[in-house]
Amino acid sequence: MESASTPPIFRTADRPADPVARFEQPSDVFEALFQSIQGGEKHVRPPLALTPDSPFLPFIEIGYALRACLRDPARRDYLLQRLRPHLGVIIGTLPTSILPHGMLPDGAPLPGWRALEDIGDAELHAWLIQDGGLIYGEMQRYELDNYFDAIAPLIRPGGVMVDLGSGLGKVVMSAALTLPFTRCIGVELLGYRHRMAQERLRQLLALAQQGLASLPAPLAPETPLTLPVGAPATGRHLHDLAARIAFIESDMFKVDVRGASLVFLYSTCFGPLMDALGEKLARELPVGALVSTTTYALKHPAFQLVHYFPAGTVAWTNVMVYQRSGPLASLTPAETAALYQPDPVAWEARVRRDFDAMDLATKAAATIYAP
Ligand SMILES: C[S@@+](CC[C@H](N)C(=O)[O-])C[C@H]1O[C@@H](n2cnc3c(N)ncnc32)[C@H](O)[C@@H]1O
Repeated sequence: MESASTPPIFRTADRPADPVARFEQPSDVFEALFQSIQGGEKHVRPPLALTPDSPFLPFIEIGYALRACLRDPARRDYLLQRLRPHLGVIIGTLPTSILPHGMLPDGAPLPGWRALEDIGDAELHAWLIQDGGLIYGEMQRYELDNYFDAIAPLIRPGGVMVDLGSGLGKVVMSAALTLPFTRCIGVELLGYRHRMAQERLRQLLALAQQGLASLPAPLAPETPLTLPVGAPATGRHLHDLAARIAFIESDMFKVDVRGASLVFLYSTCFGPLMDALGEKLARELPVGALVSTTTYALKHPAFQLVHYFPAGTVAWTNVMVYQRSGPLASLTPAETAALYQPDPVAWEARVRRDFDAMDLATKAAATIYAP
């Protein structure tokens, strides 16, 4: 039997899941719903739209300036020189969006767009932070199961969960299925990801209706129901999914999270944003509210670490759970977040290898398509 001091046993992989053939009990409905929201990490990332009203025009302008240097071998040393002072905010080797599979559109620069030489260091730094934040990743199903098991004892029925940077909505919909939140809300900056989340939600709701209608013993709103984490609920938990889940297309810094009881951050690509996020959350969240982060600590003094799950337990990376505690003693800038600071020499060697690989791929494509 597990004692209070026994460390929780975490899953280490997804178990194979057979498609649900028949809805015989509510657990079949849950299983079909969970299955319907997996696999978002494999989605195709369409380029950002290069239209005059795109909110991403400033991002695209600087991206074009960087990419022009990447594509011209004679300007690559200059590209390295400009990127080197900002290594702490570059995720990986070169900024993701300027790579051949990145989200920058093709096409000519708009009139008046600047070259890299005309873009200042502060602007470039802010751009690199945004570029890193736009990288996509999702926790695997077993990792989210571990996460919900781990936080379930801290969650009281009736709260509001918010995922800042909600992508295709997997965490928001999984949280609404698993835990007794009144509302689960996702906030996503990129329009196409927001629309994919809405489409997935439409499919989830249709499947829930179909599943509930097919049960041999109807699940009434008042019928007792056991949630996937073992907590008691009623049939309303599934009947009211449409009212319990919402997605907002917005910059997370523009959305007030005052009413949240849990803010979820898959912050693995948000390292350089952690200070600003800490300030925002400290200002808005009530005492007692929880914030969970991955990879990066929330170092603002208004938050107290309540759980630390090392990499390889709940998930592949560290997971931290904080609680907003006490009065807001200080609004001084939080300690510098533990930034990923690569060794500049090793970084340059990797970048030069990437240049060579890109040139080889371009040559190979030219040979294949030559008449
Ligand atoms: C690593 S993904 C995580 C997706 C989701 N939370 C999950 O765990 O499945 C981070 C998401 O944050 C979004 N994002 C980045 N900066 C943002 C911002 N300022 N406001 C809202 N969303 C942002 C990205 O577009 C991306 O979809």
